[in-house]
Amino acid sequence: MTVQQHILQQQEDLFPEARGRFSSLLSGITLATKMIQAKIRRAGLADIIGSVGATNVQGETQQKLDVYANQALLDCLGTRESVAMLVSEENAEAVVIDRSGEGKYIIVFDPLDGSSNIDVNVSVGTIFSILRRPDGAQGDAAVLQPGWKQVAAGYVVYGSSSIFVYTAGQGVFGFTLEPEIGAYVLSYPNMRMPDQGTYYSVNEANADSFPESYQRYLGELRRRRYSSRYIGSLVADFHRTLLKGGVFLYPPTATNPSGKLRLLYEANPLAFLAEQAGGLATNGRGRILDVAPASIHQRTSLVLGSRSEVELLASM
Ligand code: AHG
Ligand code: MN
Ligand code: MN
Repeated sequence: MTVQQHILQQQEDLFPEARGRFSSLLSGITLATKMIQAKIRRAGLADIIGSVGATNVQGETQQKLDVYANQALLDCLGTRESVAMLVSEENAEAVVIDRSGEGKYIIVFDPLDGSSNIDVNVSVGTIFSILRRPDGAQGDAAVLQPGWKQVAAGYVVYGSSSIFVYTAGQGVFGFTLEPEIGAYVLSYPNMRMPDQGTYYSVNEANADSFPESYQRYLGELRRRRYSSRYIGSLVADFHRTLLKGGVFLYPPTATNPSGKLRLLYEANPLAFLAEQAGGLATNGRGRILDVAPASIHQRTSLVLGSRSEVELLASM
């Protein structure tokens, strides 16, 4: 079963009114990710390593692959007839595609997650979230919806294999890219996050500036003999947590007092996937999917993972 067949089946069950628009969106995304992974697989041969000598709206140095990945998604999605707007980590403003008001969907994405790992051959990813454009809404107001309104969300983790994981609100499904045929083939028919794990995942370098409750919490996990795993690519740390359980945290820090990760295209899509797989996702105070966004590049703290570990933090 390829991801296209799966999406069409989901569409018949879930979105009978979608008339192929929804599946055409997802095929735009999968096409872009195949272009991105082809570049990643030839890093060092293709001129795709290193930075472009520019910074993005986040103030981060743009890597060549950030720019390539962003352009691939803009090109593959910009021509799909049901797209109203595109919002990307790499674009300061939302990109309006369909001014006629006919466009039904908004796609929000992090084209290349884990940019600091590109040049050292460590797993990176692409994250996306699909929203409906509310009738009559235009501009950022149309995008600033709480995460529980997402129609679908997913990611590709470009690791030892390229794996496409998505949910449309009826469970989580994983597909592995079969290079010989260039198609994503179903490899995880129903992904469930274990209720408890043995790993915690956090950048320990920031530990001294975490709020005291987080420090106590991590001390408790160490007392319970948890092991630490931190890849520095959110998609890779999330994918391990989805398969093995445990908890990922990006708490408030001195440098990022409201957390570093972006709500719309990092925390919300992964929170949707985590909950669909039986896990939890909070900002340390409340459910990520309930947060009402105020701006498209808004940051948030993030605690995401197995029910047992996330509830333990809440209790502390
Ligand atoms: P991006 O490359 O899209 O900017 O995302 C990087 C993020 C995320 O992937 C990762 O979890 C986090 O940055 C790592 O941050 P630190 O290096 O501060 O730990
Ligand atoms: Mn990212
Ligand atoms: Mn990114």
